[in-house]
Amino acid sequence: MDNKAELSSLTAQTKLIPFGYKTVYLNGSYLPLDEAKVSVMDRGFLFGDGVYEVIPAYSGNFFHFQQHMQRLENSLASIRLTNPHDRPQWSAILAPLLDVSLDQSVYLQITRGVGAKRDHAFPENITPTVFAMSSTIVPFTDLASGAKAISIDDSRWELCNVKATTLLANILLRQKAVESGCAEAILVKDGYVTEGAASNIFAVIDGILITPPKSHEILPGITRDVIIDLAEQNNIPYSEDIISLEALKTASEIWLTSSTREIIPVVQLDNETIANGKPGPVWQTMNQLFQVYKRSHHE
Ligand code: PDD
Repeated sequence: MDNKAELSSLTAQTKLIPFGYKTVYLNGSYLPLDEAKVSVMDRGFLFGDGVYEVIPAYSGNFFHFQQHMQRLENSLASIRLTNPHDRPQWSAILAPLLDVSLDQSVYLQITRGVGAKRDHAFPENITPTVFAMSSTIVPFTDLASGAKAISIDDSRWELCNVKATTLLANILLRQKAVESGCAEAILVKDGYVTEGAASNIFAVIDGILITPPKSHEILPGITRDVIIDLAEQNNIPYSEDIISLEALKTASEIWLTSSTREIIPVVQLDNETIANGKPGPVWQTMNQLFQVYKRSHHE
């Protein structure tokens, strides 16, 4: 099927199906979640051999869609997987999963596909598996009072800039945080903070908003980029610089940022209170700017 035929066939299929949260996309079809099945020989299942994206959509409008697509393209190139769709195709595939009455996050995943046997090396002539679903964004409940975090050794690999489905280290680290009554684990490598288990980190130190620079040690967060742009446009002093755990402990504010949780103020780190134990003034300003921006920025 050529691209145009594929798109019109997708559109025809989606018109027949109620777009409840249970409708998901799998390899060219929209179907109820409990009918979406992949083979046990899928390399995503056997090896975590795949990449993913999480794209927010506010009232049915994707937020920074092109930037998420760019990161997806970078992730795919890093694991040497050809993108099965171009950007307009992705947009057409994902749009039917949106509900204009909700704020949602769209999860999409591409694995290398189903191999004939379990073999670490890539099989030849394999078709990628493409899966997508949407979920309602549930606002972070402790926003007004702030969240707790723990610091913990960053036990991940060297490709943290790739949004790989292989997330075992991240989930073990997040689970440690949850078991300590905390919202997130702040990861530390050689004495310097990298990011959260599923978020980027910002700190206000001596009145300057600081976030670690992009490198293979962090995921280049789209929310992170938006915050840097908003800081620039609103004359909030900021710097992309390394932050030692020691310096983080002296910060007047710590935030964790992601597409699904937006900007979370951290008020306690390793059982120590940050500043006066309340979300700080720079967070108040940035969060307001972000809330206005996310509603007004449509692509
Ligand atoms: N995670 N760092 C890591 C390790 C992440 O997993 C995420 C997001 C971020 C923030 O990126 P962004 O602002 O583009 O969401 C940083 C998503 C939400 C997830 O895995 O569900």
